[in-house]
Amino acid sequence: MRKQIAAANWKMNKTLQEGQQLLHDIVSKMPSLTNGQHVIFALPYPYLGILKSKVPVQSGQLAAQNCHHASSGAYTGEVSVSMLKSLEIPYCIVGHSERREYFHETNAQLAVKVNLCLSVGITPIFCCGEPLSIREANNQNSYVGTQLDESLFHLDAAAIQHVVIAYEPIWAIGTGKTASSEQAQEMHAFIRSAIANKYSAEIANGISILYGGSVKGSNAGELFAQPDVDGGLVGGASLVPEDFLQIIAALKKES
Ligand code: PGA
Repeated sequence: MRKQIAAANWKMNKTLQEGQQLLHDIVSKMPSLTNGQHVIFALPYPYLGILKSKVPVQSGQLAAQNCHHASSGAYTGEVSVSMLKSLEIPYCIVGHSERREYFHETNAQLAVKVNLCLSVGITPIFCCGEPLSIREANNQNSYVGTQLDESLFHLDAAAIQHVVIAYEPIWAIGTGKTASSEQAQEMHAFIRSAIANKYSAEIANGISILYGGSVKGSNAGELFAQPDVDGGLVGGASLVPEDFLQIIAALKKES
């Protein structure tokens, strides 16, 4: 079974004390994860080192929400992949649509970030997804295809296997408007076929593709039941313990 992942993206929410409480409320009630099920908490940078000890390995792992596209240097306020690596952070979100929109991150820059993550052994959680206007014009496949081409498909067959992909239609993020499970499955199948065409079916079958965009406790079951949906990248609902626990419980189990 591919890795099934419930990833919490806290974004710029919660003070340290609130975050500590939130982690406690989730971790203390966490169901025991079966083989292949993973929980990830993408915390704000300053909390990564401090809260790491609050997440026992059997309950989850940490992710950064971003990294800089240079390996070090005079970039005041930024954080490099080697800094994350020195904190033993195993995952990093790359190319979230909010970073693309508000910080003008380009596909080419994201390719560099993906390379940097992989160069230090951090797994990038690479986000892709189309805005509403593209969906309305039914051009979502070519839009997402270009994102994959320009940011991921320069990788060789060995490297691509260390990437997690998150499909997050922008019109569904934080809007309460979830893609239907059919829309999610259709796009995930498209992404998997693009990987198969570029690399091989075997490689495509091994890569986890998460869905993101208004995942909640109430819709996670239906979304995660889709054959090509390997869990979710969750914003708002990851800040509510009951909701996120329900989302974790909806992950596929090894049969
Ligand atoms: P949302 O955010 O669950 O609040 O829609 C998802 C994301 O942006 O990763």
